[in-house]
Amino acid sequence: MQTDSSFTFVLFGGTGDLSMRKILPALFEAHRAGGMLADSGKIVAVARHVADRSEYLQWVNEHVKPHVSKNGVDEAAWASFLARIEFAKIDLGNPDDFVLLRDAVKDLPGIRVFYLATGPSLFVPICRALASVGLNENARIVLEKPLGYDLKSSNAINDAVGEIFAEEQIYRIDHYLGKEPVQNLLALRFGNALFEPLWRREWVESIQITIAEELGVEARGDFYDNTGALRDMVQNHLLQLLSIVAMEPPHSMDSDSVRDEKLRVLRALKPINPLDIGKVAVRGQYHSGVIRGNAVPAYATEPGVKQNSTTETFVALKVEIENWRWAGVPFFLRTGKRLADRVAEIVVNFRPVPHSALGASALRAGANRLVIRLQPNETIRLYCLAKQPGEGMNLASVHLDLAFDQFFREGQMEAYQRLLLDVINGRLALFVRRDEQEAAWRWVEPILNEWKASNKPPKPYASGTWGPAAASAMLAQHGTCWLEEEN
Ligand code: BG6
Repeated sequence: MQTDSSFTFVLFGGTGDLSMRKILPALFEAHRAGGMLADSGKIVAVARHVADRSEYLQWVNEHVKPHVSKNGVDEAAWASFLARIEFAKIDLGNPDDFVLLRDAVKDLPGIRVFYLATGPSLFVPICRALASVGLNENARIVLEKPLGYDLKSSNAINDAVGEIFAEEQIYRIDHYLGKEPVQNLLALRFGNALFEPLWRREWVESIQITIAEELGVEARGDFYDNTGALRDMVQNHLLQLLSIVAMEPPHSMDSDSVRDEKLRVLRALKPINPLDIGKVAVRGQYHSGVIRGNAVPAYATEPGVKQNSTTETFVALKVEIENWRWAGVPFFLRTGKRLADRVAEIVVNFRPVPHSALGASALRAGANRLVIRLQPNETIRLYCLAKQPGEGMNLASVHLDLAFDQFFREGQMEAYQRLLLDVINGRLALFVRRDEQEAAWRWVEPILNEWKASNKPPKPYASGTWGPAAASAMLAQHGTCWLEEEN
């Protein structure tokens, strides 16, 4: 992909964890690949506790380099990448410092991108300070999650940012939308005639979407304890995946056509009745346990976590979509930390054949299923029944596999790399529009409120398991089980 879109990429939070692990490595990969970033494009890192450019570059060498190119760093590319980086020492709490920023960027080329890799409490002050020196014009602003804590706080941020930047200048990141297999889901659904007639209530029995992690809260205990899995993963990543799985075919792939269709799904989510919450939502918290042979501590003892914390690290939900395509089809969503495996996948369970001329084995589980594995090992796997070789008509479950790394041996791109290139090139389709975000908060909020009001602690689960037993019981009520329970 050749580009001549020049840019000045201003990175607030230039020494933060996200810049170190994701943003600068992604920009480096785009730079190293060649042809993706205009040669004249510049990165201006903003930080407060670094004296000058040379000290910042030293920090980049020490902290960012270990996170780039697993197979070793191309030193020439690394040196030319460093040459793109400028530095501005700015105290974000001091609006006067933004005059320095204006001076630092005024002669730099191309479209200006302001990436706010900072806590959300700084979003509005930064936007206002940018506007006070005229830097909001002809610019794009990127907001990291979490954008707010609930509908009210997210509206407050969106209102204030919206006074300074027009909606088409605002790029709200959800990095799951940048993952290659999520794009592939769009290709699978809307590029093939095969699935579309089956992608509906008449033929789909249930859908599962799981994002399971082995990691705990790591060094983010403080943040996480005030957030919890519902806000951290469901309100954004899981509902975005759900809306892509369930959306109607868009008229085109332009940003608003896709986002309009996703919005329709979010608005059609059946509101959760507080009286039913025990039947359709499970919240859990990890206790100590063993993951891949290593003992790991309980959530409540992690640094930054309050004693007797009731924050959930696991959520499972039964969701319904009230429209003609999906009425009555349960969507089971699940996410958790310290689970038995790191896996993100979408499982579409089709209905069994209506009458089996081939005997009972044709009705067995393990067939009529599509599994879209987002990570690790991106694959799309279609399970069917086939006759076992030999005498008699004995059926067995077999699968057709598309393993992306084998089929397309190169060209895979990390989510952040794709999304940053989209910002620089002005492509909004993979960013969350304000109305989508509001619809997601509106749906999630009654669950948060009910959990808070009931004051019940989350259900404990041992680290290294698949979460509380109640999550399995919820599916059992619908005559089904999570995919790993079948194996
Ligand atoms: C982030 C959450 O948005 O996504 C983290 O804040 C979580 O808690 C992460 O670990 C998971 O992302 P990925 O790409 O590693 O699955």
